[in-house]
Amino acid sequence: MADRIVSPNSGEDDNQETTLRPRHLDDYIGQETVKGNLRILLEAALKRNEALDHVLLYGPPGLGKTSLSLIIANEMGANIRMTSGPAIEHAGDLASILTALDEGDVLFIDEIHRLSRVVEERLYSAMEDFALDLIIGKGPSARSVRLPLKPFTVVGATTRLGALAAPLRDRFGAIYRLQFYDEASLQKIIRRSAHILQVNMDDGGENEIARRSRGTPRIANRLLRRARDYAQVRADGVITLDVARAALNALEVDDRGLDPTDRTLLQAIIQKFDGGPVGIETIAASISEETETIEDVLEPYLLQLGFLARTPRGRIATRLAYEHLGIPYRVDPNTLSLWEQAEDSGK
Ligand SMILES: Nc1ncnc2c1ncn2[C@@H]1O[C@H](COP(=O)(O)OP(=O)(O)OP(=O)(O)O)[C@@H](O)[C@H]1O
Ligand SMILES: [Mg+2]
Repeated sequence: MADRIVSPNSGEDDNQETTLRPRHLDDYIGQETVKGNLRILLEAALKRNEALDHVLLYGPPGLGKTSLSLIIANEMGANIRMTSGPAIEHAGDLASILTALDEGDVLFIDEIHRLSRVVEERLYSAMEDFALDLIIGKGPSARSVRLPLKPFTVVGATTRLGALAAPLRDRFGAIYRLQFYDEASLQKIIRRSAHILQVNMDDGGENEIARRSRGTPRIANRLLRRARDYAQVRADGVITLDVARAALNALEVDDRGLDPTDRTLLQAIIQKFDGGPVGIETIAASISEETETIEDVLEPYLLQLGFLARTPRGRIATRLAYEHLGIPYRVDPNTLSLWEQAEDSGK
């Protein structure tokens, strides 16, 4: 899984990400609704000269949550301290992070759904009261002291909003959902990155990479770098439509951005389970993937494309999926009735 060229998770060769990260809200392409709301939030806080309200960002990996948190701190003129749910192991770790924050600082917590219960409880009281309750001493002489904190802003990021405890979620004044990017936005992102990396490409090349990037900027940037390699080795250095096509075909990324893992998943549902409905655990076992990987990484884009649908009895492969794989569409009439109950048939 880690080696997938279309993995939305950050990999080893993504270290140029820092160079490609937008620094200001105006460089952050797409996500217009989120940006619009965030602008108001930022301006209002700046006007009142207050710390920004706590912000929670959620959505599939690689859509720009980390980038947006850096932008938030930058636009507020604040320092940012970056950490993640699993990195804060003990309540003591949290206390030392929080007491080191200055007024208005941003604390970015990636994978915030993975905080331990104890840390999580401490965090939400700190977010609400800007104070930490510490127990000093042991046994009968133990007493609790309240340590005031300077007003700060938590920016939390998660791929699974549902895994966040309700009391923690409620402490966020703004909750923004990042969406997959449309092709026009991805094309702009690719153009911007190509400019920064000094890559030569034409419209056709930009377009082709945008179409195969699964709505995900991180993947767009990675495919751009691979197409650049291909152009330099096999062509005259310019990424044209033909060069982009050849490069991405060689990487087994098809014209909708699916790679062999996605196709294996769809084929399993169609061929082993008659198109579904089939439960996620059963699919996971049949293709030897983790359930969580399927839910967080593979499925969101397939749902978005309308290749998969979720029904109360499990996942169904849609007609579009059959067509994409070139498999004749035939489906049990009983399954059809489930369509009416489908919660999420893509868009
Ligand atoms: N809106 C955008 N405009 C331009 N580039 C973007 C945008 N969003 C993301 N990127 C690019 O995509 C890369 C990945 O984004 P980022 O690391 O912020 O994603 P993420 O949502 O935090 O992912 P993860 O969930 O894996 O942490 C960035 O380095 C940046 O170059
Ligand atoms: Mg990130």
